[in-house]
Amino acid sequence: MVIPIETQSNALVLQTDEDKRLRTVYFGKRLRNTQEYALVESQNNQKDVNAGIYNHVYTPSGSWSLIEPALNITHADGNNSTELLYVAHEQKQEGNVTLTTVKLKDPVYATEVTLFYKVYAQEDVIEQWSEIKNTEKGAIVLQKYASANLYFKADNYYLTNYHAGWGREMRPEEMPLTNGIKVLDSKLGTRANIFEPPTFTLAFNKPSAEDEGEVLLGTLGWSGNFKIDFEIDSYHNLRLIPGINPHSSAYTLASNAVFKTPSFIYTVSHQGKGFASRNLHRWARKYRILDGNGTRLTLLNNWEATYFDFDQNKLTDLFKDGKKLGVDMFLLDDGWFANKYPRNDDTAGLGDWQENKKKLPDGIGYLIKEAEKTGIKFGIWLEPEMVNPKSELYEKHPDWVVKQAARPEHYFRNQLVLDLANPVVQEYVFGVVDNLFTKNPSLAFIKWDCNAVIFNAHSMYLQKSNQPQSQFYVDYVKGLYKVLERIRAKYPSVPMMLCSGGGGRVDYEALKYFTEFWPSDNTEPLERIFIQWNYSYYYPVIATCNHVTDWGKQPIKFRTDVAMMGKLGYDIVVSHLSPTDLQFSQQAVSNYNQIKATLWYGEQYRLVDPYMHPMASIMYVSEDKSKAVMFSYHTNYRFDLTDSPHAVPLKGLDANKRYRVQEINVYPGTTSTIDATKVYSGDFLMRVGLNPDVNEKRSSVVLTIEEVK
Ligand code: DGJ
Repeated sequence: MVIPIETQSNALVLQTDEDKRLRTVYFGKRLRNTQEYALVESQNNQKDVNAGIYNHVYTPSGSWSLIEPALNITHADGNNSTELLYVAHEQKQEGNVTLTTVKLKDPVYATEVTLFYKVYAQEDVIEQWSEIKNTEKGAIVLQKYASANLYFKADNYYLTNYHAGWGREMRPEEMPLTNGIKVLDSKLGTRANIFEPPTFTLAFNKPSAEDEGEVLLGTLGWSGNFKIDFEIDSYHNLRLIPGINPHSSAYTLASNAVFKTPSFIYTVSHQGKGFASRNLHRWARKYRILDGNGTRLTLLNNWEATYFDFDQNKLTDLFKDGKKLGVDMFLLDDGWFANKYPRNDDTAGLGDWQENKKKLPDGIGYLIKEAEKTGIKFGIWLEPEMVNPKSELYEKHPDWVVKQAARPEHYFRNQLVLDLANPVVQEYVFGVVDNLFTKNPSLAFIKWDCNAVIFNAHSMYLQKSNQPQSQFYVDYVKGLYKVLERIRAKYPSVPMMLCSGGGGRVDYEALKYFTEFWPSDNTEPLERIFIQWNYSYYYPVIATCNHVTDWGKQPIKFRTDVAMMGKLGYDIVVSHLSPTDLQFSQQAVSNYNQIKATLWYGEQYRLVDPYMHPMASIMYVSEDKSKAVMFSYHTNYRFDLTDSPHAVPLKGLDANKRYRVQEINVYPGTTSTIDATKVYSGDFLMRVGLNPDVNEKRSSVVLTIEEVK
């Protein structure tokens, strides 16, 4: 049996052997003649004793396989061996999307596994997950239960993964994979991404490049502990096994219950990372991110403007500032709640979601009305999964808190995590959001924060209900999704930002419920160019929130230009801006409104890589190629480095169209050096290029490139 799973450009081919084991025999460019997939194995000479041990489509453990498994089960009778043989498969196509399901079964135990391959053909994206069904009479325990198990053949493999920490999210490192196993993982519970996200790039044969070479961009849609194994086997083939981290997570599955793993989402390109990321962006907007092709609100956030020090009068003044700036919404951040233990700093109050009477005597409803009177919308910050020990919530419900009763409490930002494995806590967290909306139907936005990891992982609920503690990490995330599911059933479209003390939590399962995410608290604009650059391989502009703040020494123009390459927001004291800075900012917001459609729904092209050059340049092109925006920055201040001595060849335009280039975001009182009267062909702009004239004085330049008919 040969099962080809094809995207527009690629094919993943599965084939049964004489023992009915199903193997991955091909992953590469799609063949013209589908019949020839059956011939692939005839050309394979890797046939010593290990032949086929490595390329099982979902490697079981405890029987013939002695290598890193995808699945490890303890059966109802305590036996640890599993074998999976092919039973059946089917393919169902609906337009661009084809779902292939493959059923496997253990010949000895009544365990069934179904593998799912959802292909988004045009985008070259495959989403894979598996379902394990316990058809035994008693409960089984899943020790490892990966989402996928892929197999690649190439001369060499280069892995780009990201190391991180607060304020230093998404720092890339590209290394050749050597023999043995390399693991990316997180055991942090919530905020799983702080040190390492579940996103990576795998380049085949040679290191990854922007516009050429074979690369895979992959990511796991799971907001908790993950583990991704990259194993080079003795044939120098690569085994890739992404999934939930089995660390402390043995999962008991009752008779007849089904466990569905999270999705592993990936795209393979033969034209480098740029092409791959554009495919992923298009997929994410169309199929995954909530309202991915919808609209977004620009905003003024008060976090860095006031921190905890505000009251309703100060806020209503800030509404006026937001209006003056021209943004769509005011976002009230942390510090608005709790009375017995007021939230005046980060040591108290989390969990007590009632307006603080001193700061907000007239409540949220009043603020919303005032904002609306001023002509802007109103949004609010929440961190509903968390609790400060100094809170009424903690006093009333200590058993709702994740902790080990016999050990000292261990805090992250002075707080603890609520036990979302507990349905009563799920109800409570849903209620926090629901109450806000019920009382304030015109509340326009929620920033959902999550600032602590899980120490002392222990659920009182699981203990009391006689369920194994080893389910906790998984049940926490499932509990979170249940809450989000309910919120979205009742409030399908309110925009929500996923935030986790910066970028500690973003993935494509969470983004089913969120319209956008906060990539990092680090808004120092030079740093931010790099942070955004790296996120941009995996997440589209429309979901990436960037705020203009007072971080860094760069002028407001530089800070604004950088923040515009995403969903624009502000986190500054508008009244502290000089008249010309204010004038610039007002113009910038209005420019943003002109170009946002090109940024949000267009294609992104990375032109000049700041890791290799003293400048960065990125452009966005509308789908019909009639409009584009190019952002260029001076990124290296070493002596005698002239930034743009050469033209930068543009990408993604129509060679046959004619374009006019104009500079926008020109600081008041300065003059652009770009000749706006000239018209260039797309051919010229893509072959010769355009010099944005970036230098120390013109440290950031934004150009619009528009078709002239
Ligand atoms: C961390 C977030 O990343 C910040 O933007 C801000 O909302 C603070 N939390 C508030 O405590």
